[in-house]
Amino acid sequence: MKKVTEFKGRLFEGPIWVKDTLYFVDILNGEIHSLKENEHKVVKFDTYVSSIQPREKGGLIATAGKGFYVVEGNSVSLLYEVKDWDSRTRFNDGKCDPVGRYWVGTMDLEEREPIGGLFVLDKNLNFRKVLDNVTISNGLAWSLDNKKFYYIDSPTKKVFVFDYDAGKGEISNRKTLIDLSSYPGVPDGMTIDSEGMLWVALYGGGRVLRLTEGRILQEIKVPASHVTSVTFGDSDLKTLYITTANDEENGGYIYAERVDVKGVETYFCEF
Ligand code: BGC
Ligand code: CA
Repeated sequence: MKKVTEFKGRLFEGPIWVKDTLYFVDILNGEIHSLKENEHKVVKFDTYVSSIQPREKGGLIATAGKGFYVVEGNSVSLLYEVKDWDSRTRFNDGKCDPVGRYWVGTMDLEEREPIGGLFVLDKNLNFRKVLDNVTISNGLAWSLDNKKFYYIDSPTKKVFVFDYDAGKGEISNRKTLIDLSSYPGVPDGMTIDSEGMLWVALYGGGRVLRLTEGRILQEIKVPASHVTSVTFGDSDLKTLYITTANDEENGGYIYAERVDVKGVETYFCEF
Protein backbone atom coordinates (compact mmCIF):
# COMPACT_ATOMS: atom_id res chain seq x y z
CA MET A 1 0.00 0.00 0.00
CA LYS A 2 1.27 3.43 -0.98
CA LYS A 3 1.28 6.46 1.33
CA VAL A 4 -0.02 9.37 -0.75
CA THR A 5 0.61 12.30 1.62
CA GLU A 6 3.63 13.27 3.68
CA PHE A 7 1.50 15.70 5.68
CA LYS A 8 -0.89 14.53 8.36
CA GLY A 9 -4.47 15.59 9.08
CA ARG A 10 -6.54 15.26 12.25
CA LEU A 11 -9.57 13.56 10.69
CA PHE A 12 -9.17 13.03 6.96
CA GLU A 13 -12.51 11.98 5.52
CA GLY A 14 -14.89 12.03 2.58
CA PRO A 15 -12.49 11.50 -0.36
CA ILE A 16 -13.82 12.06 -3.90
CA TRP A 17 -12.13 11.80 -7.27
CA VAL A 18 -13.23 14.32 -9.91
CA LYS A 19 -11.56 14.18 -13.36
CA ASP A 20 -7.89 14.27 -12.35
CA THR A 21 -8.08 15.51 -8.79
CA LEU A 22 -8.47 13.86 -5.40
CA TYR A 23 -10.39 15.97 -2.89
CA PHE A 24 -10.86 15.18 0.79
CA VAL A 25 -11.69 17.03 3.98
CA ASP A 26 -10.12 17.32 7.39
CA ILE A 27 -13.35 17.57 9.37
CA LEU A 28 -11.90 18.73 12.69
CA ASN A 29 -9.40 21.17 11.17
CA GLY A 30 -12.10 22.59 8.87
CA GLU A 31 -10.14 22.08 5.66
CA ILE A 32 -10.83 21.01 2.09
CA HIS A 33 -7.73 19.52 0.47
CA SER A 34 -7.12 18.89 -3.21
CA LEU A 35 -4.30 16.87 -4.74
CA LYS A 36 -3.68 17.01 -8.47
CA GLU A 37 -0.48 15.14 -9.26
CA ASN A 38 1.91 16.96 -6.93
CA GLU A 39 -0.08 20.13 -6.53
CA HIS A 40 -1.63 20.36 -3.08
CA LYS A 41 -4.17 23.08 -2.18
CA VAL A 42 -6.13 23.77 0.99
CA VAL A 43 -9.29 25.84 1.54
CA LYS A 44 -9.77 26.78 5.21
CA PHE A 45 -13.06 27.21 7.06
CA ASP A 46 -13.49 28.52 10.59
CA THR A 47 -15.80 25.60 11.37
CA TYR A 48 -16.00 21.83 10.79
CA VAL A 49 -16.22 20.74 7.13
CA SER A 50 -17.78 17.30 7.01
CA SER A 51 -18.20 16.47 3.31
CA ILE A 52 -17.72 17.78 -0.23
CA GLN A 53 -19.23 16.89 -3.59
CA PRO A 54 -18.70 18.23 -7.10
CA ARG A 55 -21.23 20.71 -8.41
CA GLU A 56 -22.82 20.59 -11.86
CA LYS A 57 -22.28 24.33 -12.32
CA GLY A 58 -18.60 24.07 -11.35
CA GLY A 59 -16.67 23.95 -8.08
CA LEU A 60 -17.80 22.00 -5.03
CA ILE A 61 -20.59 21.96 -2.49
CA ALA A 62 -19.42 21.52 1.11
CA THR A 63 -21.36 20.74 4.27
CA ALA A 64 -19.82 22.81 7.04
CA GLY A 65 -20.95 24.29 10.34
CA LYS A 66 -24.74 24.62 10.04
CA GLY A 67 -25.03 24.77 6.29
CA PHE A 68 -24.17 24.07 2.70
CA TYR A 69 -21.55 26.17 0.90
CA VAL A 70 -20.49 26.70 -2.70
CA VAL A 71 -16.70 26.51 -3.04
CA GLU A 72 -15.05 27.83 -6.17
CA GLY A 73 -11.28 28.09 -5.95
CA ASN A 74 -10.72 29.98 -2.70
CA SER A 75 -14.10 31.63 -2.66
CA VAL A 76 -16.73 30.22 -0.30
CA SER A 77 -20.37 31.34 -0.24
CA LEU A 78 -23.35 30.16 1.77
CA LEU A 79 -25.95 28.21 -0.23
CA TYR A 80 -28.33 27.13 2.52
CA GLU A 81 -28.33 27.48 6.29
CA VAL A 82 -30.17 24.94 8.45
CA LYS A 83 -32.69 26.45 10.86
CA ASP A 84 -33.17 25.05 14.39
CA TRP A 85 -29.78 23.39 14.51
CA ASP A 86 -29.34 20.87 17.35
CA SER A 87 -26.10 22.11 18.94
CA ARG A 88 -25.37 18.68 20.42
CA THR A 89 -24.72 17.41 16.87
CA ARG A 90 -22.53 18.11 13.85
CA PHE A 91 -22.68 17.19 10.20
CA ASN A 92 -20.83 14.03 9.14
CA ASP A 93 -20.64 12.08 5.82
CA GLY A 94 -22.64 13.46 2.89
CA LYS A 95 -23.08 12.63 -0.79
CA CYS A 96 -25.13 13.60 -3.80
CA ASP A 97 -27.63 11.05 -4.99
CA PRO A 98 -27.90 9.88 -8.63
CA VAL A 99 -30.20 12.80 -9.46
CA GLY A 100 -28.18 15.53 -7.75
CA ARG A 101 -29.78 16.06 -4.31
CA TYR A 102 -27.39 16.36 -1.35
CA TRP A 103 -27.79 13.73 1.39
CA VAL A 104 -25.98 14.38 4.67
CA GLY A 105 -26.12 12.90 8.12
CA THR A 106 -25.49 14.29 11.57
CA MET A 107 -23.94 12.73 14.66
CA ASP A 108 -23.93 13.15 18.41
CA LEU A 109 -20.76 15.16 19.16
CA GLU A 110 -20.25 12.82 22.11
CA GLU A 111 -20.84 9.75 19.90
CA ARG A 112 -23.29 8.21 22.39
CA GLU A 113 -26.98 9.03 21.86
CA PRO A 114 -29.22 8.55 18.79
CA ILE A 115 -29.88 12.30 18.46
CA GLY A 116 -28.66 12.60 14.86
CA GLY A 117 -30.43 12.06 11.60
CA LEU A 118 -30.13 11.80 7.87
CA PHE A 119 -31.21 14.82 5.84
CA VAL A 120 -31.70 15.74 2.20
CA LEU A 121 -31.28 19.11 0.51
CA ASP A 122 -33.50 18.96 -2.59
CA LYS A 123 -32.62 20.76 -5.78
CA ASN A 124 -35.11 23.54 -4.93
CA LEU A 125 -33.26 24.02 -1.60
CA ASN A 126 -35.98 22.34 0.45
CA PHE A 127 -34.25 20.72 3.46
CA ARG A 128 -35.91 17.71 5.09
CA LYS A 129 -35.19 14.82 7.47
CA VAL A 130 -35.41 11.31 6.02
CA LEU A 131 -34.22 9.32 9.03
CA ASP A 132 -34.29 9.77 12.79
CA ASN A 133 -32.57 8.07 15.73
CA VAL A 134 -29.08 8.01 14.27
CA THR A 135 -26.02 8.17 16.53
CA ILE A 136 -23.12 8.55 14.05
CA SER A 137 -24.44 8.93 10.51
CA ASN A 138 -21.76 7.63 8.17
CA GLY A 139 -21.32 5.83 4.81
CA LEU A 140 -23.87 6.32 2.01
CA ALA A 141 -24.12 4.65 -1.41
CA TRP A 142 -26.73 3.97 -4.08
CA SER A 143 -27.03 0.72 -6.04
CA LEU A 144 -26.11 0.85 -9.73
CA ASP A 145 -29.76 0.41 -10.78
CA ASN A 146 -30.76 3.36 -8.51
CA LYS A 147 -33.22 1.16 -6.63
CA LYS A 148 -31.41 0.68 -3.31
CA PHE A 149 -29.75 2.95 -0.78
CA TYR A 150 -26.99 1.63 1.49
CA TYR A 151 -26.37 3.32 4.81
CA ILE A 152 -24.21 3.10 7.93
CA ASP A 153 -24.92 4.33 11.46
CA SER A 154 -21.53 3.37 12.91
CA PRO A 155 -22.35 2.12 16.44
CA THR A 156 -24.88 -0.39 15.03
CA LYS A 157 -21.93 -2.13 13.31
CA LYS A 158 -24.25 -2.87 10.41
CA VAL A 159 -24.70 -1.83 6.83
CA PHE A 160 -28.38 -1.21 6.14
CA VAL A 161 -30.18 -1.36 2.82
CA PHE A 162 -33.35 0.60 1.98
CA ASP A 163 -35.58 0.77 -1.07
CA TYR A 164 -34.77 4.05 -2.80
CA ASP A 165 -37.23 6.09 -4.83
CA ALA A 166 -35.03 8.19 -7.10
CA GLY A 167 -37.94 10.30 -8.38
CA LYS A 168 -39.09 11.39 -4.92
CA GLY A 169 -35.77 11.10 -3.08
CA GLU A 170 -37.33 8.87 -0.45
CA ILE A 171 -36.17 5.71 1.34
CA SER A 172 -38.22 2.94 2.95
CA ASN A 173 -38.18 -0.66 4.12
CA ARG A 174 -34.90 -0.75 6.08
CA LYS A 175 -33.14 -4.13 6.29
CA THR A 176 -29.73 -5.27 7.50
CA LEU A 177 -27.46 -6.01 4.55
CA ILE A 178 -24.64 -7.30 6.71
CA ASP A 179 -23.69 -7.36 10.38
CA LEU A 180 -20.02 -6.53 10.98
CA SER A 181 -19.95 -7.11 14.74
CA SER A 182 -17.39 -9.91 14.41
CA TYR A 183 -14.87 -7.35 13.07
CA PRO A 184 -12.87 -4.91 15.17
CA GLY A 185 -13.91 -1.27 15.01
CA VAL A 186 -17.03 0.20 13.43
CA PRO A 187 -18.05 0.72 9.79
CA ASP A 188 -17.45 4.30 8.65
CA GLY A 189 -17.26 5.64 5.05
CA MET A 190 -18.40 3.56 2.07
CA THR A 191 -18.37 3.50 -1.71
CA ILE A 192 -19.65 1.19 -4.46
CA ASP A 193 -17.77 -0.38 -7.38
CA SER A 194 -18.79 -1.02 -10.98
CA GLU A 195 -19.87 -4.58 -10.04
CA GLY A 196 -22.26 -3.23 -7.42
CA MET A 197 -20.15 -4.37 -4.46
CA LEU A 198 -19.62 -2.12 -1.43
CA TRP A 199 -16.25 -1.04 0.01
CA VAL A 200 -16.47 -0.14 3.69
CA ALA A 201 -13.82 1.51 5.88
CA LEU A 202 -13.50 0.03 9.36
CA TYR A 203 -12.75 2.79 11.86
CA GLY A 204 -10.68 1.17 14.60
CA GLY A 205 -10.47 -2.00 12.50
CA GLY A 206 -7.44 -1.13 10.33
CA ARG A 207 -8.95 -2.36 7.08
CA VAL A 208 -11.32 -1.88 4.20
CA LEU A 209 -13.86 -4.61 3.41
CA ARG A 210 -15.37 -5.37 0.03
CA LEU A 211 -18.77 -6.89 0.66
CA THR A 212 -22.25 -7.73 -0.52
CA GLU A 213 -25.40 -9.04 1.18
CA GLY A 214 -24.25 -11.19 4.12
CA ARG A 215 -20.78 -11.88 2.64
CA ILE A 216 -17.25 -10.45 2.84
CA LEU A 217 -15.50 -10.75 -0.54
CA GLN A 218 -12.14 -9.13 0.16
CA GLU A 219 -10.19 -7.50 2.98
CA ILE A 220 -7.52 -4.87 2.55
CA LYS A 221 -5.31 -4.16 5.56
CA VAL A 222 -4.34 -0.52 6.15
CA PRO A 223 -1.25 0.57 8.17
CA ALA A 224 -3.48 2.76 10.40
CA SER A 225 -6.33 1.45 12.54
CA HIS A 226 -8.66 4.47 12.25
CA VAL A 227 -9.67 4.10 8.61
CA THR A 228 -12.38 6.64 7.85
CA SER A 229 -13.40 6.41 4.19
CA VAL A 230 -12.65 5.21 0.66
CA THR A 231 -13.13 6.26 -2.94
CA PHE A 232 -11.95 5.08 -6.35
CA GLY A 233 -9.66 7.31 -8.38
CA ASP A 234 -7.09 7.72 -11.16
CA SER A 235 -7.92 7.67 -14.86
CA ASP A 236 -9.03 4.01 -14.80
CA LEU A 237 -10.86 4.34 -11.44
CA LYS A 238 -8.93 1.32 -10.17
CA THR A 239 -7.02 2.97 -7.35
CA LEU A 240 -8.66 2.85 -3.96
CA TYR A 241 -7.90 6.05 -2.03
CA ILE A 242 -8.20 5.58 1.71
CA THR A 243 -8.46 8.31 4.37
CA THR A 244 -7.40 7.84 8.00
CA ALA A 245 -7.48 9.72 11.31
CA ASN A 246 -4.47 10.91 13.25
CA ASP A 247 -4.78 8.84 16.42
CA GLU A 248 -1.51 6.91 16.03
CA GLU A 249 1.84 6.93 14.26
CA ASN A 250 0.59 5.78 10.86
CA GLY A 251 -2.76 7.57 11.11
CA GLY A 252 -3.71 10.90 9.56
CA TYR A 253 -2.40 10.06 6.10
CA ILE A 254 -4.02 9.21 2.79
CA TYR A 255 -3.19 5.75 1.44
CA ALA A 256 -3.72 4.22 -2.00
CA GLU A 257 -4.02 0.65 -3.21
CA ARG A 258 -4.45 -0.61 -6.79
CA VAL A 259 -7.37 -3.05 -7.07
CA ASP A 260 -8.80 -5.33 -9.78
CA VAL A 261 -12.20 -3.73 -10.04
CA LYS A 262 -13.25 -0.29 -11.25
CA GLY A 263 -15.14 2.22 -9.18
CA VAL A 264 -17.99 4.39 -10.41
CA GLU A 265 -17.90 8.15 -10.99
CA THR A 266 -18.98 10.45 -8.18
CA TYR A 267 -22.42 12.01 -8.74
CA PHE A 268 -22.64 15.77 -9.19
CA CYS A 269 -24.93 18.05 -7.20
CA GLU A 270 -27.46 20.11 -9.09
CA PHE A 271 -27.59 23.44 -7.29
C1 BGC B 1 -16.72 10.61 12.41
C2 BGC B 1 -15.88 10.45 13.65
C3 BGC B 1 -16.22 9.13 14.31
C4 BGC B 1 -16.05 8.00 13.31
C5 BGC B 1 -16.38 6.62 13.83
C6 BGC B 1 -16.48 9.43 11.52
O1 BGC B 1 -17.25 9.55 10.36
O2 BGC B 1 -16.44 11.82 11.76
O3 BGC B 1 -16.09 11.53 14.53
O4 BGC B 1 -15.40 8.91 15.43
O5 BGC B 1 -16.83 8.25 12.17
O6 BGC B 1 -17.70 6.44 14.12
CA1 CA C 1 -17.22 9.13 8.08
